[in-house]
Amino acid sequence: MRIGPYELRNALAVAPMAGVTDRPFRPLCRRLGAGYAVSEMVASNPALRHTAKSRRRIDHSGEAAPIAVQIAGADPGTMADAARYNVDLGAQIIDINMGCPAKKVCDVAAGSALLSDESRVAAILEAVVAAVDVPVTLKFRTGPTPQRRNAPRVARIAESAGIAALAIHGRTRACAFVGAVEYQTIAEVKRAVSIPVFANGDIDTPDRARQVLEATGADALMIGRAAQGRPWIFREIAHYLETGRRLAPPTVDEVRSIVLEHLRDHVDFHGEVVGVRTARKHLSWFCARLPGGGPFRSAMLAHDTVAGQRGEVERYFDALAATGAVIDNEASVAHGRRAADGAAAARRSTVPWVREALAA
Ligand SMILES: Cc1cc2nc3c(=O)[nH]c(=O)nc-3n(C[C@H](O)[C@H](O)[C@H](O)COP(=O)(O)O)c2cc1C
Repeated sequence: MRIGPYELRNALAVAPMAGVTDRPFRPLCRRLGAGYAVSEMVASNPALRHTAKSRRRIDHSGEAAPIAVQIAGADPGTMADAARYNVDLGAQIIDINMGCPAKKVCDVAAGSALLSDESRVAAILEAVVAAVDVPVTLKFRTGPTPQRRNAPRVARIAESAGIAALAIHGRTRACAFVGAVEYQTIAEVKRAVSIPVFANGDIDTPDRARQVLEATGADALMIGRAAQGRPWIFREIAHYLETGRRLAPPTVDEVRSIVLEHLRDHVDFHGEVVGVRTARKHLSWFCARLPGGGPFRSAMLAHDTVAGQRGEVERYFDALAATGAVIDNEASVAHGRRAADGAAAARRSTVPWVREALAA
């Protein structure tokens, strides 16, 4: 899998997820088998460049090449400026967000709302491609609504504009995260263009990964929610696609090290006050599928310091190891599928735009 001059280690990417795939989480996924990672979206609006959130999102220090930064916005000139700005800060690939259904993004006709306006899509893509001399990629959905699945046309517009690769989430904007993924539309997109295509949506097991590759003919896969609390999914899928055999799940000891390492990197990056708060969702995901995950979560949420959180994690994994528990991938997948169920997920999500999108 190639994007412009960059040969990826494998054809598996961790999907951009605002509030999740921050700088500590992306390298973790890459260490555990992802060949590629895209940053959380950064707003193109220059007035937002100096907020604490934007400053954290444009920090790529220590990340492996290629550094891919996603930008979101609706105005071609502003998007071109944002692309130049991010390339000056070290972006080696610019990814354009036309996939996000969030009201916050769509109300200004950005994200997936742009898919209704194909001439604006063309204007944005052409402006960004002309503005930078790094590859520009597009992440989008199958269309604005199920009645208007224009993804193959958008894909051709993108290819003509000079876009280097596409990532397509197989749902329309109106579908948010609800309903079956349309792998058929992804296959149509793949047939419509000759640039590489990442298929995205509900890929949560090695079997599903192989089925999606076969059903869509896509060059690569992009995985989002299934990597939450299970970043080792990338090495499991990579191993299965290479050998046809299943890799054993990690041991409880390895998961303990992964969780503690991630907690350390997360708090180093975000600082203790923000870091302890934002680490909670990752810790909950890591332990949600494990025995005693519920009580662990309640105890962990009571801590306001990293020392307290770390101690709770150590106690939990020590107790788990003492029971001889093993990591059960099947249970993880079942749990993930229940968690992704539309209405229930809408109520539970801690990310405001996911709540909005799922509730819509
Ligand atoms: C919490 C969360 C945040 C997301 N943030 C972004 C984002 O910043 N940019 C984007 O293009 N897509 C974003 N997405 C969409 C994902 O990249 C992906 O397309 C979607 O989750 C479907 O893939 P999955 O079924 O593997 O999760 C987000 C999704 C979630 C769940």
